[in-house]
Amino acid sequence: MTDTDPGKPGAGGNPAGNTETGGADCAEFARTLLSWYDECGRRLPWREDPSPYHVWISEIMLQQTRVEAVKGYYARFLARFPDLRALAGADEDAVLKCWEGLGYYSRARNLKRCASQILELYDGQMPETAAELRKLAGIGPYTSAAIASIAFQEAVPAIDGNLLRVFARLALCREEITSPAARAAAERFYRERMPAERPGDFNQALMDLGALVCLPREGAVCMRDPAACPVRSFCGAFSRKACGSLPVVPAKKKREIDRRTVLVIRDDDRVLLRRRPGRGLLAGLFEFPNYDGWLSESEALEKAEMLGIEPLHIRPLPPAKHIFTHLEWHMRGYELLTGSFPDGPDGPDRCFFASRGTLARTCALPSAFTAFVPDTF
Ligand code: ADE
Repeated sequence: MTDTDPGKPGAGGNPAGNTETGGADCAEFARTLLSWYDECGRRLPWREDPSPYHVWISEIMLQQTRVEAVKGYYARFLARFPDLRALAGADEDAVLKCWEGLGYYSRARNLKRCASQILELYDGQMPETAAELRKLAGIGPYTSAAIASIAFQEAVPAIDGNLLRVFARLALCREEITSPAARAAAERFYRERMPAERPGDFNQALMDLGALVCLPREGAVCMRDPAACPVRSFCGAFSRKACGSLPVVPAKKKREIDRRTVLVIRDDDRVLLRRRPGRGLLAGLFEFPNYDGWLSESEALEKAEMLGIEPLHIRPLPPAKHIFTHLEWHMRGYELLTGSFPDGPDGPDRCFFASRGTLARTCALPSAFTAFVPDTF
C-alpha cells in the first residue's frame, strides 16, 4: 500500500512511519505541524469558543461545504438557535429555513433530531467519546471524531477528503484513496502521530494544511514554493516530486442530466409555491411547480390550468442550471401572471399562494429555484 522505502532522514524518509525510527519521527512530525498551525492556522468563528454545541453545528455545516460559505450560516444559526435546547424545541421548518441554500438538507433535519436525542438520552449533555457520538442522528465516523477530538480532546483522527489527500502524499500511498484499505491506512498513520495533549488542534492543523498548502492535484503549493509546506521533510511525495499525481482517485461518474420546466405563477405580491414530497431529492422543502422536460408555452399553460390557474399573461424566463451531486437540472421557466387564485393552504397538488413575507421568513426554497424568484420579491 505505502512505499516504505525509508529514504534519507529528513528528505521524505520513513513515509509510512512504521520502522523502528518511526516513534521519534512521529513526535517530530506532530511538533512541526502544530507549530505551523499556531502561526499560520486559520482564525475561524467556530474556533473562538469550541464548546461541544459550537463544534457540532460547525462540523455538520462544513460537511461537503466550503468554509467561506459556512461562516454566515454559522452566525445566523447560532443567533437563532443559541443552544441545544433551543434547537431541540424548534420547528423543523424554521431549522430548514435557516439552512436554506446550504444544501444537503437532511443534515438540518438530523441536527434537530440529534438535539432531541441528546436531551432525552443524555440529559442535554453531549456525549464525549467518538463511539457514543456515532450513535446519534447524522453523526458518522468523521463528525464523531471531529467533535470528540476538538471539543473533548479524544485522540482520534477526523478523516475527511483533505486528510486523505495529505496522507496519500505524506505516506506515498498509491492505492485508490477512496478504498477501505487506504482509509484504514490513513487512520493508522494519523493515530501514530497524534499527540495526546492536542488531538483537536492536530486534526485542525491537518485540515488547514489541506486547505491552504496541500491542495488538490497540481494546486499543491509545494510544487512552486517548496518552503510553503511545513512538513515537506516528512513527505514521501515531496521528495519524489509526486504531489501532482497523488492521491489516486477513481474516475468520476457522469452526472445524469434532467430537463425541467419551472412555472413562476404570481400576482403582484404573491407567488405559487408547493411543498415537495417527504421523501427523495429536496424532501419536504418548497418549490415552484416544475415538470419533466422542456415544455412549450401551450404545454405550460395546460399545466397551469390543471392547477386551477387562469393566466392573464405568460412569458419565458432566462434558463438556469443547478448541479446536485449526481444530477444536473437544466431548467427553462415561464412566468405566468394571474388575477384570480384558488386561495388557502391546500390548493391543488399541494400548492398555495405565498406572500413575500412568507417566502422570506417561513418557506425554505432550495437554491435550485433561486434563479426564478421574481426580482420584485
Ligand atoms: N472542515 C471541517 N471541519 C473543519 C474545521 N474544524 N476547521 C476548518 N475546516 C474544517
